[in-house]
Amino acid sequence: MGYIGSHVSILLLEAGHDVAILDNLSNSSVVVLDRIKQITTRLPEFYNMDVRDTSNLELAFIKFHPDAVIHFAGLKAVGESVIDPLRYYEWNVMGSVVLLQVMNKYQVKKLVFSSSACVYGDVAEMPITEISCIAPTNPYGQTKAMIEQILADLVSSDQGWSVARLRYFNPAGAHISGLIGEDPNGIPNNLPPYISQVAVGKLDVLKIFGGDYPTPDGTGVRDYIHVMDLARGHLSALNYLSNESGLLTVNLGTGHGYSVLEMVKAFEIASGKKVPYRIAERRSGDVAISFADPSRAEQLLGWKASLGLNEMCRDQWHWQSKNPNGYRSSCAY
Ligand code: UD1
Repeated sequence: MGYIGSHVSILLLEAGHDVAILDNLSNSSVVVLDRIKQITTRLPEFYNMDVRDTSNLELAFIKFHPDAVIHFAGLKAVGESVIDPLRYYEWNVMGSVVLLQVMNKYQVKKLVFSSSACVYGDVAEMPITEISCIAPTNPYGQTKAMIEQILADLVSSDQGWSVARLRYFNPAGAHISGLIGEDPNGIPNNLPPYISQVAVGKLDVLKIFGGDYPTPDGTGVRDYIHVMDLARGHLSALNYLSNESGLLTVNLGTGHGYSVLEMVKAFEIASGKKVPYRIAERRSGDVAISFADPSRAEQLLGWKASLGLNEMCRDQWHWQSKNPNGYRSSCAY
């Protein structure tokens, strides 16, 4: 029921699927369920539980009888993973192993896994294709790479499995209704929620991490992808898995890179607000440029991002301005 999972749930419900959400609420809110109901008129089943909790996971499988699982559960703050790697290996890697064991036991062998472009690390050649080296630069990225490897081994050991490894680039934006969006705990690490919290007045100033990168304006370039495009990618992957077994690995990005300053400009236009910023030191572990070659996803899934920077900024602002304190504020509707 986090940022990506909530948006995917909406599309699944709208497509007529029955959905059960399993979440330990460590970085999400039950309010999301009401919001999903407002948007789709349907309420997903909800299990308040941890993915590492085998017995409750089994109970959920027995009760719900899933055909397929989309696995979003995991910690995702790079800095925190450097300070407390064991927690990341436990939550992300062990959590995935427990989930796979339970799936195996109940013969549910279709899985879509949330991986990340961070598995590539610092890539010299852009755009990044799926055959670029896997060389993560931090424990968080290592956990994603390890889970990817576990999935590859599992698929080789048993041809009954169908697994999609989706390597997300940089998600941004929110559902067009403004009812759901990204609601990070504390100070955001990622750029889109940071910018929108500055624009709404919750944070004073955006610190731009580095103004001297070898990019056209000196600031870092990333492949921002609208969260609804990303969500559609999951449905395309699920459809693909219903006809194919084996392992699918695809980048989900737009193929276009935008700098931090371009993001700030686009966000100012979309919001009509000034986003004060200052250039600060580079953030350790950051790369100068990262953008996807998304052609494999188009070839295999018929999926392609359709929303651009303006829609991302518009929808990010709609969500943030209606919910200045995320799900903690009273509903603005
Ligand atoms: C980050 C993680 C990546 C993870 C992804 C999840 C790092 C080094 N990388 O990717 O492993 O998969 O989030 O979404 O943390 N920026 C600022 N000021 C800010 C925040 C960001 O200037 O306050 C800049 C960054 O330097 C970068 C760009 O904005 O150039 C995007 O940053 P971010 O949103 O954190 O994404 P990534 O670094 O690509």
